[in-house]
Amino acid sequence: MAQLWGGRFEGSISELAWKFNASINFDKRLLPQDIKGSLAHSEMLAKVGVITQEEKDAIHKGLKSILSDVEEGKLEITDKYEDVHSFVEANLIDRIGDAGKKLHTGRSRNDQVALDMRLYTRDEVINVAKLLKNMLITLDKIMGENVETYMPGFTHLQKAQPVTLAHHLGAYFEMFKRDSLRLHDIYERMNYCPLGSGALAGTTYPLDREFTAKLLGFYGPTFNSMDSVSDRDYLIEFLSALATMMMHLSRFSEEVIIWNSNEYRFVEIDDAYSTGSSIMPQKKNPDIAELVRGKTGRVYGALMSLLTTMKGIPLAYDKDMQEDKEVSFDAIDNARNCLILFTDMLSTMKFNNDNMEKSATKGFTNATDAADYLVVKGVPFRDAHSIIGRIVLYCIDKDQAIDDMTIDELKSFCDKFDADVYDAISLKTCVEKRLTLGAPGPEVMKKVLDENHKFLDDFWAKDL
Ligand code: ARG
Repeated sequence: MAQLWGGRFEGSISELAWKFNASINFDKRLLPQDIKGSLAHSEMLAKVGVITQEEKDAIHKGLKSILSDVEEGKLEITDKYEDVHSFVEANLIDRIGDAGKKLHTGRSRNDQVALDMRLYTRDEVINVAKLLKNMLITLDKIMGENVETYMPGFTHLQKAQPVTLAHHLGAYFEMFKRDSLRLHDIYERMNYCPLGSGALAGTTYPLDREFTAKLLGFYGPTFNSMDSVSDRDYLIEFLSALATMMMHLSRFSEEVIIWNSNEYRFVEIDDAYSTGSSIMPQKKNPDIAELVRGKTGRVYGALMSLLTTMKGIPLAYDKDMQEDKEVSFDAIDNARNCLILFTDMLSTMKFNNDNMEKSATKGFTNATDAADYLVVKGVPFRDAHSIIGRIVLYCIDKDQAIDDMTIDELKSFCDKFDADVYDAISLKTCVEKRLTLGAPGPEVMKKVLDENHKFLDDFWAKDL
């Protein structure tokens, strides 16, 4: 056991308590952020004259060698240390002696871990935003190719009205676009530096917090030291954004699973993202989509866990907050992987356009348009609704589409039907007539695609 404290203690901690208390096994992933923060802190200490330039140089050399040794596998982060912060400091002192003991001047592990988590979260916010951009690019490509691919739109999972594949996928474009904008909001709000807050009440050293904030790429320092060491709002916001993103991915997974089923066959998932059965040779299962749907619960769980951890904590730092890490790391890793895999699965998926079109034709998705046709011919809408309802019943009995009926059959239900009805209720007409912004009509869809391209060109995280 190598701890940073001990002077005040007469006895030693029980082995079980040591293990229970330690965070090294999971916070070791914060090593790059911890070193980055310490480089900035020591740079600032030298600038304000708390340590000498030589001491700063030694500290920098030592910190960089620790990071590279760990990265190259020459140095192992073991559970001999309580946490990543103790590991770095102990190794630094081993390497450079007394100068290493000065690194922690004007700093506490409370503002140190607050900084590490913020740096880590900020990196992941950007990573996920970039992955969302890939997803949007993938969707945009498929949309561009399928502006006139007709398919049934559903409500209550019942065929409702005809849409296009571009229109259906455009709904997901909007969802993932909002997800990426949520990340932008979080980035803007969280990009302030807690370093220099000390344990809770700032420090008596003349620290230059503006300087460290700038060195670390923050907009500036935070304004309240008690809040700074006990704030995990940015992480809660990030988990909440990830939970929402996973909800979108899960709905999309559910649709892909349905579309890939033997009954629908709207799509075929590539072999690279399917699995087989150990007993049923014919099976090709959509396991990846199912797992994405399944892992959504885990990400929600992390959000609930952190909210619950934080809800009873008096100001400022309390050890409960160490519980922020494992659940968040797990949620972030899983959400990131789900996004990568789903995007890959989508970009390799085969869309069976004929089956989609057939399904739209067979499913009476033009029934509303047929009623509208009669309205144009002077039939009151309520009567037209009832006439088409009876026609649908007739067609179900004969296992045919409205379009398959002869003009005489149609006239036997209402004498307002003419030969122009076939064109009026064709899938092409039904979709083309839907011209309002946001509807599937190809003209208006092209406008939306242009807007989407602008959004992608100016994507907020492109230079980060
Ligand atoms: N491992 C701790 C955490 O993750 C680091 C901060 C420890 N601070 C303290 N006062 N014991 O929160």
